[in-house]
Amino acid sequence: MSVTHDIYRLVLGPSWSRAAPARLEAAVDGRVVLVTGASSGIGARTAELLARAGAHVLLTARRLDRLQELADRITATGGRATPYGVDLTDPDAVDRLVAEVLADHGRVDAVISNAGKSIRRSLTATEGRFHDVTRTDGVNYLGPARLLSGLLPGMRARGTGHIVNVSSLNVDLPVAHWAAYSASKAAFETWLRCVAPEIRRDGVVVTSIHFPLVHTPMSAPTYSPRLPGLTAEAAAEVIARALVHRPRLLVPWWVRPAAVLTTLAQGPYEAVQSQVLRWSR
Ligand SMILES: NC(=O)c1ccc[n+]([C@@H]2O[C@H](COP(=O)([O-])OP(=O)(O)OC[C@H]3O[C@@H](n4cnc5c(N)ncnc54)[C@H](OP(=O)(O)O)[C@@H]3O)[C@@H](O)[C@H]2O)c1
Repeated sequence: MSVTHDIYRLVLGPSWSRAAPARLEAAVDGRVVLVTGASSGIGARTAELLARAGAHVLLTARRLDRLQELADRITATGGRATPYGVDLTDPDAVDRLVAEVLADHGRVDAVISNAGKSIRRSLTATEGRFHDVTRTDGVNYLGPARLLSGLLPGMRARGTGHIVNVSSLNVDLPVAHWAAYSASKAAFETWLRCVAPEIRRDGVVVTSIHFPLVHTPMSAPTYSPRLPGLTAEAAAEVIARALVHRPRLLVPWWVRPAAVLTTLAQGPYEAVQSQVLRWSR
């Protein structure tokens, strides 16, 4: 881990660090952990890390060839991994995934709901592209909610389970040009906030992590690699730590006061953004 990343973690807060390896092993060894979006970026690195700690990782995404490569790498080093191709925007495919996974493994102990689609686009550029909204909704909200609707009954019946939602600080601080992405992420977060109290009494815990910039194939077209951000490996360590400590919410310490401020002063907050957009034209 580079010095830059250590400094960046300091800026995020003490919870944004790695768990002691022994504690991670105690939390996930022998557990069945389903990771969505495991073909790339944060999901791939998380699956590798959890498999090294003894979890049987179920790898899901659309690109089955990449999942197979990852599964082969994990099994070559003595880990356990099973790939499943699925498009989260296809409701029937999600239902088939749930049926297949439960038939193959009998249970899922934890879900890392990580798959995501990000779009940074102005309203003007979105004209004639309403599919931007429906696609982000499918991947970031409807697909994950459907997947959990299929897996939660088993967790609740067994009285144990953990859902980790890999989300973004766009949920706390919505900004111009991120409408479709932020709205879909906020929708899933709201869904979880309503569901969490119901499932908590059945022993199922929810963790939401609102990540800042993470350098992955998703962020590469929008953000320079020189900007301060986490690596996918560092993000995976944060997710792994969440499986150990089970916090309800992980956001950088400064985001919540900023969210309160921008909500109380919504008009000025939007006026400043509007001015910035005018300048940058
Ligand atoms: N990178 C950041 O700066 C950042 C910041 C905050 C939050 N996040 C969140 O972190 C999560 C992981 O993103 P990442 O940065 O690691 O991006 P990434 O490398 O682009 O990975 C995205 C993953 O989602 C999967 N996916 C996309 N569309 C899918 C679909 N229709 N059905 C099933 N799987 C689909 C992709 O697999 P296939 O293409 O193979 O289907 C891929 O494995 C996302 O939820 C993102 O919103 C990222």
